[in-house]
Amino acid sequence: MFSKSISMSVSLLVVIVVGATFHAAKAAIGNEHRQQQVTNEAVANILAYETGGKASFEIPREHYRPVSDCMFVTSESGPFSYISPTDDDTVCGIYFLTDPDRVVEIHFDSFDIPCDHRGLLAVIDGWELNGEVFPSESDHSLSMKERTSEFCGKNKWYRKTFTSSQNAALLQYRIPVRGKGFVVSARYPKNPRPCNVLSVSTTDPFTLRNYGRRINCTFVAVYPGAVRIIALGIGSSSSHGVHPTETGTLRKCDARSPRDQVQIGGTRGFDTTKLDVIDSICGIDSKPDIKELVAYDITAVRLLSSGYYDNSVTVAITPIVDDSLLDPASGF
Ligand SMILES: *[C@@H]1O[C@H](CO)[C@@H](O)[C@H](O)[C@H]1NC(C)=O
Repeated sequence: MFSKSISMSVSLLVVIVVGATFHAAKAAIGNEHRQQQVTNEAVANILAYETGGKASFEIPREHYRPVSDCMFVTSESGPFSYISPTDDDTVCGIYFLTDPDRVVEIHFDSFDIPCDHRGLLAVIDGWELNGEVFPSESDHSLSMKERTSEFCGKNKWYRKTFTSSQNAALLQYRIPVRGKGFVVSARYPKNPRPCNVLSVSTTDPFTLRNYGRRINCTFVAVYPGAVRIIALGIGSSSSHGVHPTETGTLRKCDARSPRDQVQIGGTRGFDTTKLDVIDSICGIDSKPDIKELVAYDITAVRLLSSGYYDNSVTVAITPIVDDSLLDPASGF
């Protein structure tokens, strides 16, 4: 990551407010109007994902897509071109986001980023906001150092491919020399065992699974959400063909197997290990009746797994749209 990260605040209403910048370049982007505009575009970009902007690899080479916003959210494969219009040293980012069961593969067709003017490209395995990353460092099998690649200089058909561990990845860039830039493309290969997932749909349910692993997995939506648990299977051993006995939804999970449970909660930033837990549940329930309102900027459902069980939880997080539900006085 850059020594100083892109700093963003997460908007209360919907997606991502971008205060996106190094403090040095704050003035360039700091005014309210611009923030609002970037927010709206980010929202539109994420919503466009649902209405058919699905990943496809067959975009003709001649159609280079210009990167228009400092915070540019996309699920397209590109190629994307960015040529710096100024000598400004603002840090910006292309936020790649794809289906929950895919990862992001980034490769550079060419780049010309002068190192001697503090120019830099950084590919990050995850998304970063305000110095916090998703997935959290402790929820990721790789260290932050391994998840970050920085480089500068000049190259054509750079052979290195960067592959993310989940459906979100970030390319940050700082190009303080006018006319310099890069061309980058993305592919979105299948991920057979998704663990951490950034929600791309405001309606579709997603099933978090541990696949028998000792691992914590988080499903995150970047809006205040109504969390509905659709199916729950926590603490069942994987004996083939035997249907686990329904226990119903249980609440005193810490007394049973504290390391196998589902936490529902919210955070203000992207570090979901700082989750304010609103409810935690376990048990085996094919028809749970669980609904929680999470009036936080970020809504998260965490599946904690000890590795002794095959755990799964099917969840849908729909945006809370009614402002009255967000009123602290209403009790949520
Ligand atoms: C999962 O999260 C819990 C609680 O946050 C933590 O105690 C545990 O060590 C984590 N497990 C793994 C495998 O990271």
